[in-house]
Amino acid sequence: MSNITVIKKKIKPFKKKIFVSGDKSLSIRWVLFSSLGSGISRAKNLLMSEDVLATIQVVKKLGIRVKFKNNYCYIYGKGINGLNVNKKIIINAKNSGTLGRLILGLLINNTKPIKLIGDKSLSKRDFKRVADPLTRFGATFKLKKNTLPLEMIGSKNLKPIYYNEDRGSAQCKSAVIFAGMRTEGKTFIKAKKSRDHTELLSKYLNLPIKIKNKKYYDLIEIKKVNKIKPLNYKIPTDLSSSAFFIVLTVLSENSELTIKNVNVNPSRIGLITILRKMGVRIIFKNQRLYKGEKVANIFVSSPKKLRSINCPTYLNSGAIDEFLLIFLVAAKSSGVSYFKNLAELNQKESPRLKLGSKILNLMGIKTITTKNSIKIFGNPKLKINKKIIIKNFLKDHRIFMTSVIAALSFGSHWVIHDKKSINTSFPKFMKIIRELNG
Ligand code: S3P
Repeated sequence: MSNITVIKKKIKPFKKKIFVSGDKSLSIRWVLFSSLGSGISRAKNLLMSEDVLATIQVVKKLGIRVKFKNNYCYIYGKGINGLNVNKKIIINAKNSGTLGRLILGLLINNTKPIKLIGDKSLSKRDFKRVADPLTRFGATFKLKKNTLPLEMIGSKNLKPIYYNEDRGSAQCKSAVIFAGMRTEGKTFIKAKKSRDHTELLSKYLNLPIKIKNKKYYDLIEIKKVNKIKPLNYKIPTDLSSSAFFIVLTVLSENSELTIKNVNVNPSRIGLITILRKMGVRIIFKNQRLYKGEKVANIFVSSPKKLRSINCPTYLNSGAIDEFLLIFLVAAKSSGVSYFKNLAELNQKESPRLKLGSKILNLMGIKTITTKNSIKIFGNPKLKINKKIIIKNFLKDHRIFMTSVIAALSFGSHWVIHDKKSINTSFPKFMKIIRELNG
């Protein structure tokens, strides 16, 4: 199979109902929680992507049995102290920041050296952000230039901490929650709003966690956990993967789309709020609660007109994985859109603020970009008349998929490299594009 995708035609109007894959954040968390469970946990609709498979590889390496049968994944947890680290081990988080950061919190009570490595993209990302709070619990870290590879030696004598998470990073917050679960006493976290799946799952599992939700931050208190019951879970659909098709509908003409059973956790729906502010009609149908998480069917139709936006920064964290797509919508809207306080976007699988701006420039859209902001000069009549080549983006899955959406929405001749990057988060992406006749 070629690793390059060539697109020469815009997509035709569509009216469809689609099923998108399971949520990545929830899939990874389910594997980690289940590996600590006392007994067998079962999941349906687990996302079968490289990030999740890397997580499964890691828990297997730690002595946990994992089995796939009839569309179910089974994890044979051996209890809260059942992970086996009786000699120095190497953990490979591959491309996954979530796995790399959360696993450090989870393993902080082990005294054998744990070496954490990752692929080229992960090895450029900041790990000091988790090493710092975990050091305060009592772990010892060796890391060069704040990045991987790193070595952690945990402790049997952990001390609880007060942690002020002020980036809006769910990975840092979750790593500290896991460490707090390993620590005698009360760990307190004041966390700028970010996705709260770890908290919701902990609550659902009756773990000793207390959460107070304030407007811009959450207060979390977590105590040592002695037992986790097995967790049978049907993973809801990933909003971040659904986002590609939502935006494809927004940028197409006379199209309608329904996506079933999507996780619409309020801490994840920044994209929806932003699109609504830009003039898109999106409806959540059959809203329900599933094991602490909000789920709904999403209906979206192509708008007649798109307004530009001066995006309020409180929406950043809830849309953090969707900004590349939001930039495309801004490119088609009338007026200048402004997105600020977005330095975190350059900390992802690739420097997405920088590369997102570059893609818009290749399309003929003017941008003014700083280290943490972007102004996008929208053009509702945009016509691209030249060949566009997208490559050298550190195999960032979201850059690849966003480029495909841009090509199908704006037309012209696109050559997009590194198709295999979709395996990180969304192996079925191209299959769904074909279902929509793209
Ligand atoms: C994630 C948190 C976010 C997000 C990532 C998944 C998670 O990262 O970008 O795709 O599952 O906790 P940060 O915590 O770095 O913002």
